[in-house]
Amino acid sequence: MRTILVTGGAGFIGANFVRMVLDEQPGTRVVNLDKLTYAGNLENLTGYTDTPDHIFVKGDIADAELVSTLIDEHKINAIINFAAESHVDRSLVEPGVFIQTNVQGTLTLLKLALEKKIERFLQVSTDEVYGSLGDDGLFTETTPLSPNSPYSASKAAADMLVAAFGHSFGLKYNITRCSNNYGPYQFPEKMLPLMIHNAKNDKELPVYGDGLYVRDWLFVYDHCTAIWKVLTEAEPGTVYNVGGNNEKTNMAVIGAILERLDKPESLIRHVKDRPGHDRRYAIDSSKIMSELGWAPTVTFEEGILKTIDWYLSNSDWLDHIVSGQYQQYYDSMYTNR
Ligand code: NAD
Ligand code: DAU
Repeated sequence: MRTILVTGGAGFIGANFVRMVLDEQPGTRVVNLDKLTYAGNLENLTGYTDTPDHIFVKGDIADAELVSTLIDEHKINAIINFAAESHVDRSLVEPGVFIQTNVQGTLTLLKLALEKKIERFLQVSTDEVYGSLGDDGLFTETTPLSPNSPYSASKAAADMLVAAFGHSFGLKYNITRCSNNYGPYQFPEKMLPLMIHNAKNDKELPVYGDGLYVRDWLFVYDHCTAIWKVLTEAEPGTVYNVGGNNEKTNMAVIGAILERLDKPESLIRHVKDRPGHDRRYAIDSSKIMSELGWAPTVTFEEGILKTIDWYLSNSDWLDHIVSGQYQQYYDSMYTNR
């Protein structure tokens, strides 16, 4: 039996990862440490909390005493760090908490991973650490880090700390840098579930600027399988990019949502742009494909339909979120924009 500490496992990708591990990896026990911030939601784990192979703990990755106890008590073999403040727009308004969790919290985990001789530390990072691309080219693992938002700056700082702990102290680590994920359980502050929710309710779709910003969309399950492969098969001290090879403009994604929901384009409203908005992200995933044999399994055309249908048939999940504190956030972000 192997026991892994998954942090942020009540968030969007973390919960999908925990579900995948429990479904597909018998012999692996998951200790799930999550602070349950506004983005953490135990409903993401419905059906998976009442099992001896999944221990949920509410707590902060920056709480060294708690993390130390969990590592000892559960004989943790590996740490997979998903926990983060993850939304770019929020980082532009309140960057401090991004530094606290994404940098300080990661540092706390690193120190303990080293002290307790954890076999592998996997840092879940993002393509945003590379900055923005023009019309051509792809991010590779050797593209210099050049983050543009407080969010991506905090993630780049964490990546560099992880690598520094490997270089200076011999910590066995990996870093994965993934493009935009989509799929079930994504918090509706993010573009895709936000637009699905608004379109369904005949509300305006707030498109930042001209809407011709490009993201490389990856179905969340495929990201989870990539992380598992890196955790179990990669050499220590390596970085892997993970992408879907699905570059789309925001307008194209929104067009697909409107078509599926049979809603008019007149719902689209171009609003004030995000400050410092990165124009294009695109990932070269050839390293993980050739070295570890990973490949995405879900095309954008399949994934977008699956995703829309999931949000439509799980309207309770969405309603619980949008009826609470999130409504205040939405009003403060989008009124008079
Ligand atoms: P999310 O915001 O949905 O979830 C983050 C989770 O972390 C939440 O459950 C939250 O409660 C928890 N958390 C926050 N601060 C914490 C703390 N101090 N201690 C413990 N738990 C804490 O984020 P997500 O979209 O699932 O992203 C997960 C990770 O993947 C992040 O590190 C993010 O940078 C990275 N990533 C995300 C994407 C994407 O498209 N969403 C793409 C690439 C990389
Ligand atoms: O690339 C990986 C990153 O993808 C992750 O590291 C981040 O955690 C994740 O949030 C995501 O960042 P983005 O900024 O790309 O995602 P977001 O969903 O916020 O925005 C996607 C695009 O849609 C972006 O160009 C901004 C635009 N947008 C977003 C919102 C919320 C809009 O036009 N309107 C909106 O209301």
